[in-house]
Amino acid sequence: MPHAALDQPSPWVARFLALAPAGGHILDVAAGGGRHTRLARARGYAATAVDIDVTGLAGLRADPDVEILAADLEAGAWPLGERRFAGVIVANYLHRPLLPRLVAAVEDGGGLIYETFAEGNEAFGKPSNPNFLLKPGELLDVVRGQLTIVAFEHGKIEAPRPAVIQRIAAVRGWDRARPRALFAAVD
Ligand SMILES: C[S@@+](CC[C@H](N)C(=O)[O-])C[C@H]1O[C@@H](n2cnc3c(N)ncnc32)[C@H](O)[C@@H]1O
Repeated sequence: MPHAALDQPSPWVARFLALAPAGGHILDVAAGGGRHTRLARARGYAATAVDIDVTGLAGLRADPDVEILAADLEAGAWPLGERRFAGVIVANYLHRPLLPRLVAAVEDGGGLIYETFAEGNEAFGKPSNPNFLLKPGELLDVVRGQLTIVAFEHGKIEAPRPAVIQRIAAVRGWDRARPRALFAAVD
């Protein structure tokens, strides 16, 4: 049984999912139990959920607008080829070599919403392996020159448990004619 808080979408993802153009297709990377795939579906997006272990996604199989992909993202070829997505969501997952791929998977006008643990988290528990912890400003460096940063944070959170995290919301291009209502989805 997953931790109760992990059944709920991340407030960061919930807030910035609106960066993905309405009706588009979301990629939920290392989707786990699918909390963000469910959020995307509730907001009217189609979704692709990819994870090495898709057992937690079984409840989504009946949904024709959800594609479930079992794939090891850390070995072999990137399983999504040249596909591009209206929104790419990554939460609580880091495989550093994949970062440029994830940015490239954002379609024109689409958004990247990324949140995971960062350096300093080792004081509070796992993950403590530096391979799984973002360095200060790392997500800024990854998107620089490619995406427009809408929001970025790095610091300690208290809930669902004390942790140090880094998170970014960024878009590829910026449609001045139709600014998106970012804050409509704030809880
Ligand atoms: C902490 S969970 C986060 C799940 C989800 N993103 C969320 O926030 O609820 C990390 C996920 O990464 C997946 N994962 C770990 N190694 C992976 C790999 N090599 N390829 C694909 N997924 C992997 C795990 O199966 C797990 O579902």
